Amino acid sequence: MRTPIVAANWKMNKTQAEAREYCRRFRELVPRDFPVELVIFPPFTALHVVREELSGTPIKWGAQNAHPEPKGAFTGEVSLPMLIEHGISYVIVGHSERRHIFGETDEFISRKVRAVLDAGLSPILCVGERLEERRSGRAWEVVEGQLSAALGVLSAEEASQVVIAYEPVWAIGTGVPARPEDAQEMATAIRGWLAERFGDVAQKVRIQYGGSVKPGNAGDFLKLPDIDGALVGGASLDPDSFFAIAEEAS
Ligand code: 13P
Repeated sequence: MRTPIVAANWKMNKTQAEAREYCRRFRELVPRDFPVELVIFPPFTALHVVREELSGTPIKWGAQNAHPEPKGAFTGEVSLPMLIEHGISYVIVGHSERRHIFGETDEFISRKVRAVLDAGLSPILCVGERLEERRSGRAWEVVEGQLSAALGVLSAEEASQVVIAYEPVWAIGTGVPARPEDAQEMATAIRGWLAERFGDVAQKVRIQYGGSVKPGNAGDFLKLPDIDGALVGGASLDPDSFFAIAEEAS
């Protein structure tokens, strides 16, 4: 049995005051024995506030990005040792906004996956095709390339620590989610790829769907056999809306 994992990617949203208010409301909503793993990804500047407000609750938190080097001349970047001080459990790696707005390459993303695992944390590796790639029938080819680059060199034990988020680029922030059957088809292909490389570990790895998930449609994805959670952007910015999504997973 894979424990569902539902995560809030706040992206570049929320001041410290807003993060505090959110966490105070959210922790009231979540029962102690809630059967879904919940992870909040605030901007770096609000990590310490989220930690203050969520310590001692079952809710976890993580970083939206990290540099693979532990320190050095990388202006504007934040390293894993710096983030570990904030009590994080997860790091999002290879989000489509990092790939397509900031030009992160498969090679750089694979270094990040390696660094996150070496730091004893779990990466949430985001993969997904663009609209023209889906239209031209190349969706799996693109996702397979992203998986091979990021995970190809891992051991089975390392692969078991990874969460994979399938986020088709055209579904992110558009209000138009993937069709559940297309998300399931991709998740099954991802799990098949994992099984080929890593054997039984494939049954342990959790696969999330992300892209215009909101209350009301989350359950359509979360009930699918190969989808074990959701990575939520816009609809995670309100604590009640995010909790409603998490309830659809439970
Ligand atoms: P939206 O839920 O706003 O479409 O964003 C999805 C996403 O990118 C989560 O990482």
